[in-house]
Amino acid sequence: MENFPQLYSKERIQQFITKYKDLIQLDPLKEIHCGIIHLDELHIAAQLLHQGELVAFPTETVYGLGANAKNAQAILNIFKAKRRPLSDPLIVHVHDKNNIYTDKPDFLDSFAELFWPGPFTIVLKSTQLETTEILSAGTGSIGIRIPNHKVALELLEKANLPIAAPSANLFTHISPTSAAHVFNDFYDQRVHIIDADRSDNGIESTVIKPLGNELHILRLGSLAKETIMQKIGQSVQLKHFAIKYENKYMQIEENEEELEKELENLQNLDRKNSMEAPGQFLKHYSARINSFIVTFQQINIGQEIDLDLKESVIIDFGQELRNRIVNIDETKYKSLSINYDAKEAMFNLYDSLRWAELQQGAKQILLYDFDTVINQKVQHDENILSIQDKIFRSASGQKIYYKDNKFYLCQ
Ligand code: TXA
Ligand code: MG
Repeated sequence: MENFPQLYSKERIQQFITKYKDLIQLDPLKEIHCGIIHLDELHIAAQLLHQGELVAFPTETVYGLGANAKNAQAILNIFKAKRRPLSDPLIVHVHDKNNIYTDKPDFLDSFAELFWPGPFTIVLKSTQLETTEILSAGTGSIGIRIPNHKVALELLEKANLPIAAPSANLFTHISPTSAAHVFNDFYDQRVHIIDADRSDNGIESTVIKPLGNELHILRLGSLAKETIMQKIGQSVQLKHFAIKYENKYMQIEENEEELEKELENLQNLDRKNSMEAPGQFLKHYSARINSFIVTFQQINIGQEIDLDLKESVIIDFGQELRNRIVNIDETKYKSLSINYDAKEAMFNLYDSLRWAELQQGAKQILLYDFDTVINQKVQHDENILSIQDKIFRSASGQKIYYKDNKFYLCQ
């Protein structure tokens, strides 16, 4: 901090807040401690990483909260800043496929050729980083990716370090697609935010783990399952791989005290919970207000709930909800894509959820049900599966049924 006072200057912070005034929400009880890094200062960002500091940087998927992947204390500070349990492993970002700090299987070059740089994270056994235990959440395997973003690549090159980075949001909150989103979650902490443009894809990378002849998709993301299948199907070296995807939703046990203890120091790591597909919690990507998926299919209908549409933000696809729900408040309405373009919807998804939680008087978000999407209408429908997954998690799986101006909880 002492080294780069300009990053924390009142003028700089004020300029940032003014630039993003519609996206920023400040809590009067919190102080601002973050720094803002301009694009012509990436050499400073690189130095900060060497000093063990946290640097939030843009990628083509979402913004990442980065630290030197060789520095255990810096990595622990990521978990502390996010309030993230240590059972959730981090992705390591690199800029050279020949220097990935893990065992390099012979098929890796073929994957790298097809999908890197890009939203493709591959989980491999790590033997070369002393920090593997904490990075991998005790699994011994680390997710590696080369991001497809000019700023991220330049930072990786300048720092010449592997950068460990989860999405730059507080744990369970919506992943950030803009510097302002990162600011909202971390301005009261010692985090340095690179001020760059909105992320191009809008959702995270796809995480895969090779096991024998199978590629297990551990997390759906902006690289569609169909695209992976199609590309590896055409590759002589990779066509023997079969893709496996199983929908796994884990409930988070919310125990503040336990988390506090766990984050205190590395010695307290409890490895009872090491998992094959860690980090796939059900409550994820959640707004600060209740979210519900609206269905028009009458299955397992429970009790009626009292929802005031004036207090409801609606996030639509095409105009499906607008055409069916009567009396929606147009000032609290957004469609992820008027033209049924799933790629556009993916780009807008987190951005719209973040917008929704900032709306005055909003008590809940009502989301379009992508389970019922009619594929013939949709462009880029290969992206639907990932959107469905993120929406399901952001509503913690809760659906409501709408009929004749009334809402009912589904069981
Ligand atoms: O697009 C992205 O992947 C962004 C940008 C910053 O690169 N990063 C990101 O990281 O989304 P994070 O930590 O928010 O999510 C990573 C998830 C974990 O929660 C877990 O589900 C899975 O990826 N993952 C990472 N490393 C893994 C490992 N070694 N084994 C199993 N799953 C892993
Ligand atoms: Mg995340």
